[in-house]
Amino acid sequence: MKRSIIAGIGKYIPEHVETNDDLSQIMDTSDAWIQERTGIKERHFADKHKDTPASMGAKAAEIAIERAGISKEDVDFIIFATLSPDYYFPGSGVLMQRELGIAHTEIGALDVRTQCTGFIYGLTVADQFIRTGMYKNILLVGAEKHSMGLDFTTRGRNVSVIFGDGAGAVVLQPVEDENRGILASALHSDGTHAEILAMVNPGSHGGYHHEKLGLEVDFGFSESRYDPIFVTRKMLDAAQLFPYMDGPTVFKIAVQKFPAAILEVLEKAGKKPAELDLLVPHQANLRISQFVAKRLGLKEDQVYNNIQRYGNTTAASIPIALCEAWEEGRVKEGDLVCLAAFGSGFTWGANLMRW
Ligand code: COA
Repeated sequence: MKRSIIAGIGKYIPEHVETNDDLSQIMDTSDAWIQERTGIKERHFADKHKDTPASMGAKAAEIAIERAGISKEDVDFIIFATLSPDYYFPGSGVLMQRELGIAHTEIGALDVRTQCTGFIYGLTVADQFIRTGMYKNILLVGAEKHSMGLDFTTRGRNVSVIFGDGAGAVVLQPVEDENRGILASALHSDGTHAEILAMVNPGSHGGYHHEKLGLEVDFGFSESRYDPIFVTRKMLDAAQLFPYMDGPTVFKIAVQKFPAAILEVLEKAGKKPAELDLLVPHQANLRISQFVAKRLGLKEDQVYNNIQRYGNTTAASIPIALCEAWEEGRVKEGDLVCLAAFGSGFTWGANLMRW
């Protein structure tokens, strides 16, 4: 029976380091507050003009492709996860294909829009294609450029201090070994709380969901059929073009769903938390990771965290952390590795694999 293994992994971190002290210069926050609540010390911000999710993804992909021992032309499918795409459309997947110089191969490129869980969804989709024999070298990328649109005033401080930019990539290949590769996956979503962690504008909603939910928000739409609803003057003036997050509610639900998804994949594979060599959780908040580890009875060396240096890089956070763990020798052949995420949507899920 075919299983999917990660044959190559790479990451790209933009050069500029933005420290908590840097942010404290432009808004009312402090290094102490940010570290105490989130564990974050610094994050990297992309170059405004040169780094895009597609270009950063391509840089991470080139490393993953080289480490997989294949050429770019061998890639037979692309999956690209991001919540901060280069364009509203087309998706960043085709832009990265062009950036890699493989547009002429005309391979399929699928964009995944499940935010922090993007890599888990992408990996699970890729796993199905590999198992059925449809593709043999799938390039899966998670990349984010959050710094392009955060509210860097005190008004937006609960969101803007958390996020960072970067990209991670893996190449997935088949192996004929039931005991290796992805052993179990779990994907979940619950749209009830979609607006609790969201960037609703620009969009085509026209106020529909807010009205249905009884939320009184004036987006400044005019009644003219011909006036745009995508972006309005009111959205710009009233800071309605930024992400919104009800942090405490997200925290409360995250600490329930993370352990549930991890236990689900362990149970599917007949394993126990103690058997895990490494858990690589989506880097949402160090306190969430610590809570999850405690809940599952995991020791400190069973969990990989690097949010301290990168912040929350959403779809890129798991492949960046996994890549770094692999580079440090924390992930070796034969290790039982669990990836898990929770985020906007809400969406959550996990993958269990034997490296
Ligand atoms: N610096 C200083 N003070 C800040 C701040 C900042 N960056 N952000 C918020 N505050 C203030 C608030 O204004 C509030 O002040 P008040 O009590 O005077 O009203 C106070 O700190 C507490 O705010 P609250 O939002 O309740 O803080 P919290 O303890 O819940 O921590 C988060 C905020 C965002 C760190 C926390 O809720 C969190 O991590 N949630 C999960 C977020 C997450 O994981 N998101 C990604 C999911 S993928």
